Amino acid sequence: MSKIAVIGYGVVGSGTVELFEKNRESICKKVGKDCSIKYILDLRDFPDSPYADKMIKDFNIILNDDEVEVVAEVVGGATFAYDYTKQLLSKGKSVVTSNKELVATHGAELLKIARENNCNYLFEASVGGGIPIIRPLNKCLAGNEIEQISGILNGTTNFILTKMIREQMDFASALKMAQELGYAEKDPTADVEGHDACRKICILGSLAFGKQIYPDMVHCSGISNITLDDVEYAENAGYAIKLIGSVKPVDKEHVTAIVCPRLVSKSNLLASVDDVYNAISVTGDGVGDVLFYGQGAGKLPTASAVVGDIIDCLKHHNRVLAMSWDDCEDKSYVVNYKKTEVSMYVRIKADDAEELKSAISGMFGKLMYIERNGRPDNEIAFITPNMIEEDIDANLTILSHSCEIASKIRLL
Ligand code: HSE
Repeated sequence: MSKIAVIGYGVVGSGTVELFEKNRESICKKVGKDCSIKYILDLRDFPDSPYADKMIKDFNIILNDDEVEVVAEVVGGATFAYDYTKQLLSKGKSVVTSNKELVATHGAELLKIARENNCNYLFEASVGGGIPIIRPLNKCLAGNEIEQISGILNGTTNFILTKMIREQMDFASALKMAQELGYAEKDPTADVEGHDACRKICILGSLAFGKQIYPDMVHCSGISNITLDDVEYAENAGYAIKLIGSVKPVDKEHVTAIVCPRLVSKSNLLASVDDVYNAISVTGDGVGDVLFYGQGAGKLPTASAVVGDIIDCLKHHNRVLAMSWDDCEDKSYVVNYKKTEVSMYVRIKADDAEELKSAISGMFGKLMYIERNGRPDNEIAFITPNMIEEDIDANLTILSHSCEIASKIRLL
């Protein structure tokens, strides 16, 4: 009988236990042997839980039980989880996780420890919730050179933006709803400011290009400054605003990686990915474009990926599933995003806004002015041509002497 332990009985942990128990019979068939959850570790008490008999508070019970082959670490964070994961892998117990913070900051090291101890560290649930993306990237697309990965990687922000666009709901109410639905991180700043999406693009980039991309190497901005005015201008011009993470190679030694809100053309499939759904577009030199789509957060969608990894570990007990990337010491591996070309949506405010138009056109050349219903006389919005970002900034710095730069959002 193969035994499993679950560390953390929050949204994902309880979902993992629920889904495993519901489908246990078919899971055992797929694994080819009997298997069950032996322990659930959480510091809180759950006296009314149907699994109260499995609840423990001492990590060492799991660590020292030779029957436990696989541990689901769904506690999150990079402190206890890091320590627990290292100890478990060092003892030859496979670990599966939804913990993107840990994978994004210590992935190379943990994968190495797993390899050295003949066990596995799997993290399908760390990116895109229930969407299969790690395994396809590692296996099915392995024959390709990856040319780019970009996607909507955070369910909470996509949910908020969708509510703002469709229902004109304000930011704070939409965030509260996402928290109530169990989509948001414990500290939703990680969602809203793009850190969660950043960790995910780091994981995808590390896997695709073979070198660890650390979150502090990646420029990251979130959606907290997006206003309904911007949403309306974007809509009118045929765009949706989405929080996008992207990574692509520049040459054999460098990549670009960035997380930021972007105006996405309605003709791009990513523009119609709404609510808690995520979508990840991958381009390979053989396969062309492929799109992975599904629920990017939530209890059971995320549990689906965790349980899938548990099954894979049980099926490959004492066998290493090839997956790794190298550590990266060179901070210049990710090039400065300001040196890359981009087209920018800009909204400015000035008493003599209309009179500034000739100066703006003089600076940027061919640009597009955009409208919205009830546009105040002191406001102008436009989209710049494709230019090196620091050149756009230089122009806007000059312009800021005569107006307020109210918004600046990159186009995809
Ligand atoms: N808070 C995350 C999100 C959970 O909203 O996407 C899934 O990683």
